Amino acid sequence: MNIVLGITGGIAAYKAPDLVRRMRERGAEVQIVMTASAEEFVTSTALQAVSGRPIRSNLWDKEAEAAMSHIELARWADLVLVAPATAEVMARIVSGGAPDLLTTICLATEAPIALAPAMNRVMWSNPATQANREVLEERGIHIIGPGVGSQACGETGSGRMLDPDVIAATVFNLTGGKGEGLLEGRKVVITAGPTREAIDPVRYITNRSSGKMGYAIASAAAAQGAEVVLVSGPVNVAEPPGIAVINVESAQQMYAATHDVIGDADIFIAAAAVADYRPAKLVEQKIKKNDESMSLDLVRCPDILASVAHLDPAPFTIGFAAETENVLDYARGKLQRKNLDLIIANRVGDNCGFDRDDNTATALWKNGERSYPTLSKVDLARELIELAAEHFYAVRGSDTQPKLTIISNKD
Ligand code: PMT
Repeated sequence: MNIVLGITGGIAAYKAPDLVRRMRERGAEVQIVMTASAEEFVTSTALQAVSGRPIRSNLWDKEAEAAMSHIELARWADLVLVAPATAEVMARIVSGGAPDLLTTICLATEAPIALAPAMNRVMWSNPATQANREVLEERGIHIIGPGVGSQACGETGSGRMLDPDVIAATVFNLTGGKGEGLLEGRKVVITAGPTREAIDPVRYITNRSSGKMGYAIASAAAAQGAEVVLVSGPVNVAEPPGIAVINVESAQQMYAATHDVIGDADIFIAAAAVADYRPAKLVEQKIKKNDESMSLDLVRCPDILASVAHLDPAPFTIGFAAETENVLDYARGKLQRKNLDLIIANRVGDNCGFDRDDNTATALWKNGERSYPTLSKVDLARELIELAAEHFYAVRGSDTQPKLTIISNKD
């Protein structure tokens, strides 16, 4: 894959050499195009060394243009990725202006364009930037991130450029996954994120799920051509482009929203960390701290996954098992008890599972299993969707199924 990597003038440009390495490790040829202000943050010498190609930055460089003109460069690209993308470059691309080499290539290319925004949180949430983001997305430009966290300016919020590994994996999902179309014409419903179970108007019970795993699965399924509906608890993850997202808070709302859309679904994937119990009654006013101790009466929440798996007919149903011990044993128990086609077992706890960019998982089914090494959630999602497609066609059959390799026991 040929990638034009546009680097603009933000502090996150220091991550560009790492991003180049990650993309080259995946077999991409990377041609870097820097803006003048990017050179304030990262040197072209370092970037030339990691990319193995001369850096392009000047639209009027006669020698470079003679070797490969900006139009040839725009045609050469299978993807144009701008990372970091500043508020300024987003605005330029929206307006169609082309004052430099990078924006000229963005205007002249027919390849997909992806932007990984990076800026101060107030700049990101500014209505002008958000309006530009909306226009870009409407035009089919992929917005990767930004992430939430501490920023170079000392503030905390949304606007951090995502990790190079996550950007690289997302880019390969956007392009590499497309075209294989393993789930073309299929509808996939996915739950993601935590639920919140209200105690009173100001407090709730929840868990550490960030939604990253479920959102990555939604993107991977869409990249394989599926129509995806994502039923999401409250998260801080950017909505994947082209995917219908239904936002909910509680387990009961997630149950209702899932059953509203599950009717014609081919595959259901439950990646959400749904509360097992909720307060028996919602107290209407804030509970006052009058006593030394208090107890909460809890009742069971509906089990969304088991309820879908027992529908008649049921979609091909995949659950997750989040465990801190006896991971595979407990997961096998859930596979049988909940009547599932597949279950993805992952350990959760300190430094694993929740709210991270990577995950380690084992997929289990009736007569077999497959373990994955620690992978970014984006890469793991792509693997799991490929596995899901193989098993889906093996179990359900289809005249239109892609050519399959059926996995035998314990591969
Ligand atoms: O969101 P991240 O920070 O990226 O973290 C990812 C993850 C660890 C949350 C994810 O990989 C994961 O394991 N999701 C399932 C979490 C969970 O609730 O596991 P469980 O073993 O408690 O539940 C088993 C299955 O039943 C899950 O598929 C769950 O979605 C489903 N369930 C559980 C209870 C309930 N009331 N309804 C359900 O549908």
